[in-house]
Amino acid sequence: MCPPRSFFIETLGCQMNVYDSELLRRRFQSYGFRPAPSADRADVILVNACSIRKRAEARAWARLSQYAGLKGDNGHPLVVLCGCVASRVVKGLGEGEVSGVDVVAGCGSYDHLVAILDAQLGVRRGPNGPLVLADSPTATYHEMPAAGEAPLRAFVSISRGCDSHCAYCVVPSARGPHRSRPLRQIIDEVAALATGGTQEVTLLGQNVNIYRDGAAGFCEVLRAVNEIPSIARIRFTSPHPRDMTGEVLRTMAACERVCEHLHLPLQSGSDPVLEAMGRGYTTSDYRGVVDEARRILPGVAISTDLMVGFPGETDDRFEASLRFVEEMAFDAAFTFKYSPRPGTAASRLPGQVPEEVKGARLERLLRVQNRATDASNRRLVGQRADVLVEGLDRRKPSLLTGRTRTNRLVSFEGPDSLVGTLQTVRIESVGRWIAFGRRVEEGAAGGGERP
Ligand code: SAH
Ligand code: SF4
Ligand code: F3S
Repeated sequence: MCPPRSFFIETLGCQMNVYDSELLRRRFQSYGFRPAPSADRADVILVNACSIRKRAEARAWARLSQYAGLKGDNGHPLVVLCGCVASRVVKGLGEGEVSGVDVVAGCGSYDHLVAILDAQLGVRRGPNGPLVLADSPTATYHEMPAAGEAPLRAFVSISRGCDSHCAYCVVPSARGPHRSRPLRQIIDEVAALATGGTQEVTLLGQNVNIYRDGAAGFCEVLRAVNEIPSIARIRFTSPHPRDMTGEVLRTMAACERVCEHLHLPLQSGSDPVLEAMGRGYTTSDYRGVVDEARRILPGVAISTDLMVGFPGETDDRFEASLRFVEEMAFDAAFTFKYSPRPGTAASRLPGQVPEEVKGARLERLLRVQNRATDASNRRLVGQRADVLVEGLDRRKPSLLTGRTRTNRLVSFEGPDSLVGTLQTVRIESVGRWIAFGRRVEEGAAGGGERP
């Protein structure tokens, strides 16, 4: 009997790709493949790749050529390009060399992917270029195969694709139009994870606010997941500022397991730039959502995504954006230089901003945001916070790390046996990316407020 075939998946990009890699992993395993300990020991290597910015995609192509170098005379292992880059290649929008790739499998091709790879493993591949699989823009993957083991924190997709067409973004071309997953399947997946030991779920969608399954909208998803026993924490990403409602904020407040954390991507704090991006809100609309969130959810942490150098971002518009970012006092932000992507509307706009100007603006934005992040961190000192303990501190394994409900990383002293438990920690000091604290033992006295 031949030994079972093995697979290795490298995941690049956002939570959507992480979730899809998990889906593929489970499908491989239920098909009889086993996970390989490293790429050089696998029969099939998959690169689940991201195309959001030029650099992200370049990284994927570099990995693929490295993996192609592992091939022996028989052409094995098979090298497979999946994810958003693969879907873009299918549409002729790829930015790399497919010669070392055996199979191109876009986000909408995963239904039969494992069976196709199994068949391909028996075939000696010729020099005819990669096998390009049909990429359905509406593939759903409603059913998640059983897990085996469940992680402490897991992602659960509630929708796929995006209908927004922001002028800079590749996601609609890579992942197709928005479609919601039936509520029943979401609940079944979270319940199965909970049974396996998962305590925190992050619900995923490009715009969670427009979720719909019959009469159920996003609030019903939050309420239903909040009822599942032994799920201690619920997060979601991303809400779209244009579609965010007071009802969602009130539902967050009413569902005790939904964490006080809102990732609300702003992109720019300049109204003409927001309009050119096609985001569908103004800074005044955005301010309204943030004010309401801070009123309805006391102690909420608000994080965001920001981009500099979008076409038409003049010096004045950038200054206005900077002032708005300062005013919003975000707890955290991911900051990016605008990257023109083939096939997007923004790549054809006049007023492209030179790289060195983008670089200088990013530096200034970072300085402003770091001040806000530091101020937000300082407010933590002296407070008590519930921390879900994730594991040992990578930098100092004698310490444990975990996250607060507001998604701040905390490190503190304690035995390994606390991993996977919720602990109360008093924060004593903060760095920019991590806070340090002391565990408050059961019954010990302690003041301060919970964030
Ligand atoms: N669906 C989410 C975000 C998906 S992409 C939303 O609407 O917010 C994650 C982030 O990458 C975006 O929020 C944006 O800030 C950034 N991004 C997307 N396209 C980009 C591009 N072409 N150049 C630079 N950053 C980009
Ligand atoms: Fe991209 Fe906009 Fe859709 Fe987000 S909402 S995935 S930024 S098109
Ligand atoms: Fe995510 Fe990158 Fe695709 S950000 S949706 S993996 S293009």
